[in-house]
Order: sequence, then structure tokens, then C-alpha cells
Amino acid sequence: MKWINKKAEGLTQGAIRAMFDRANKMTGVISMGIGEPDMPTPEFVRDAGKEAFDKEQTHYTPNAGTMMLRKAIAEKSTVKNVGYDPETEIIITNGGMGALSLLFLVILQDGDEVLIQDPQWLNYVAQVEYCDGKAVRVPTKPEDNFEMQPEVIESLITDKTKVLMINSPNNPTGAVMSKETLEKIAEVAIKHDILVISDEAYNTLLYDGATAPTIAELPGMKERTLVVNTFSKSYAMCGWRIGYVAGPAEIIDRMTKCQENFNACANAPGQYAAAKALDRPELCQELCDTFARRRAMLEEGLAKIDGIESNHPTGAFYIFADIRSFGLSSVDFCNRLLDEQKVVCIPGSAFGECGEGFIRMAYTCSDENLKEAIERIAKFCDGLRK
Ligand SMILES: Cc1ncc(COP(=O)(O)O)c(C=O)c1O
Repeated sequence: MKWINKKAEGLTQGAIRAMFDRANKMTGVISMGIGEPDMPTPEFVRDAGKEAFDKEQTHYTPNAGTMMLRKAIAEKSTVKNVGYDPETEIIITNGGMGALSLLFLVILQDGDEVLIQDPQWLNYVAQVEYCDGKAVRVPTKPEDNFEMQPEVIESLITDKTKVLMINSPNNPTGAVMSKETLEKIAEVAIKHDILVISDEAYNTLLYDGATAPTIAELPGMKERTLVVNTFSKSYAMCGWRIGYVAGPAEIIDRMTKCQENFNACANAPGQYAAAKALDRPELCQELCDTFARRRAMLEEGLAKIDGIESNHPTGAFYIFADIRSFGLSSVDFCNRLLDEQKVVCIPGSAFGECGEGFIRMAYTCSDENLKEAIERIAKFCDGLRK
């Protein structure tokens, strides 16, 4: 249409939404597709939301977000050890996606290159390109647990490279980067003077004693790292749309100006409830315990299916399973699994070329549905082997 600009014309529906659209036309579907906790927001947080309405927290907030929430993040969130000034170094955004889009709007121009792991969550590439940046894939291998290797990152750096994205625990693989890897990546970032965006959306969902340190904590990194986080996954608050960025004051200031002109602020009652949520980290742990149980169920189920190899992720709520032995593309595998057994999984190729031959399985459905999904997948794979 002639009224629409080229950038908007170029936007396409991502593979995840496309699978949902197909699934929505069917009945009896079990979805392992969605990256959203299936449980309700914890009652304590819902009550805080109601209290926010009663206390008339229904007006515009400052563009950078309420001081109540910014202080709570500085003092009680997973970045508390880095030491951020809530006045100048933290901004509250419309979820993690709002955080990323404001950030890219503020830092990218003229084809600035952004290094992004392949496979990786789809939205980074779309946002970077919309904001006049150029997404540069950092290929990874299954044998490295799909983790970016510092020497590969370094080999892709050019004089246009401005940003390196990291996302640990990772969507789609569930992999958690070790402190040693982060240290090597930090060295590369400092040597080549590049910014790091550390998307830590899943850093409360950790299993088998894994820890997910933030790269911002490492020497020389606070001044070149933007930590992005959200309450969506940690407190089952996807629909509340509350996220944040912690980072250098000058960048936060520009993001605040951008927010003033584009969105005004994040939703006010949500900010109130999120601040209260940070008083109760045990609520994140309860969610994590549920996912730990489901991860074990899924791994155990997949171990009994010939041909599928589960990875052993220690974070997030995804398994990135190897289906190469069936000789089908990941898209064909997922389409047939949906048509024949009504289970939604996401083709690995949707996350980048390196994800081909794998499928993302989100264990964000009830235990009962997960059990049923495993049975259906087993039947489907049996059929493929005949
Ligand atoms: C890696 C990653 N970052 C950020 C987000 C954004 O989360 P939200 O915008 O719901 O806060 C998601 C959501 O799926 C994600 O997977």
C-alpha cells in the first residue's frame, strides 16, 4: 500500500506466530511453542496490582519509570551487585522488547553492525534492521552447546561493529554461559571497544545449581554494558509489560528522551506491582521449581524416543532437541508433528541457519499436557521411522 513505508512493508510474521496461527485453526492442540509461563502471576503480585489501582497508581509516571521500581531494581534485582544509580542508570520499559527497541533506536544508525548469535530469539534481528542497524550472525555449533565462541566473535568484528548481543540463559537453547566464557567475551569487547547488550530475561530460571553471572559485573564492563531484563518470565508477568535497562547514564538519558516521545512510560500499576514483586524472590524460585520438574519430565520422555536427542539445558524453559536423524527439515518436522499429532514445537531454523535440524520445545504447558505431548511426539517419531 502506497501509504506504508518500506521498512514496515518489509516486516514479516515470525515463525512462532505463524505456527500459532495454524494451530489456532485446529482443536485439541498442545502447545510447546510459546515462551510464556503458563501459570498465573503469583497471587501476591496480583494483589499488589489491585492495590495499585486502589491507590490510584493510574497516572503517567516519570518517563524513566517510578523511583519506587528503579530503586527496587537497584537494591533487590539480579543486578544489585553491579551497583546502579536508580536516578540516572535505570529505565523502566514496556517489557524486555520495549527495552530493546528503545535501546536500538538510541544507539544504531547507518548500518552499524550488531553481532547476534545464530540460533537466537528472532526479534533481535527484526528490531536491529528496523532501527537501521545490520544484524551480523555469529554462527555456533551443537557440539559447543550453541554457545558463541570468543574467537568467532572476534573474527567477525569490523570497523562498523558497534554492539554484541548476549543472551544467557538462552532462548532458544536454554544454554547458560559460564563466567569463563563471559570473561573471554568481555576481553574481546574491551579490546575492540564495542558495547554489549546482555539480555538476562531468563536469569532466574536456572537448574542443576547453575549460576548466570551478569557480564556487567566483570572489570571494565559496567561502562560498556546495557543489561536488559523483564518481569515477564521471572514472575509470570508477560502481559504486564514491565522490563528495564540498567547501563551508562548517557544512554539511559537518551532512552528516557526517546520514551518521552514514543511511549511516555511503562504501565503505572504494573510498575507498582513489579516493585512489590522484588520483595519476594522466593516467588521466582517457586516458578523455577515447577520448570525444573517439567524439564526432568521432558528429558526423561525424550530419552525414550529413538531418533530425538535432547540437549541438557541448565536455564530458561526450552529444550533444543536434535531431530537430524529423521532426515526432515525442522520446518517439515514441526508442520507434520502439528498436522499428525497436534503438538506445536518451533523449527530450529526459525532462529537462524545454525538451528536447522533442531526443534525448540517449551515446557510451558501443564504437567498433564506435557505428558500427553511426549506420548504424541513418541507416536509421531515411531511413524517416521517406519
Ligand atoms: C530472549 C528474550 N528476551 C526478551 C524477551 C522479551 O520479553 P518481554 O517483552 O515479554 O518482556 C523475550 C521474550 O520471549 C525473550 O525470549
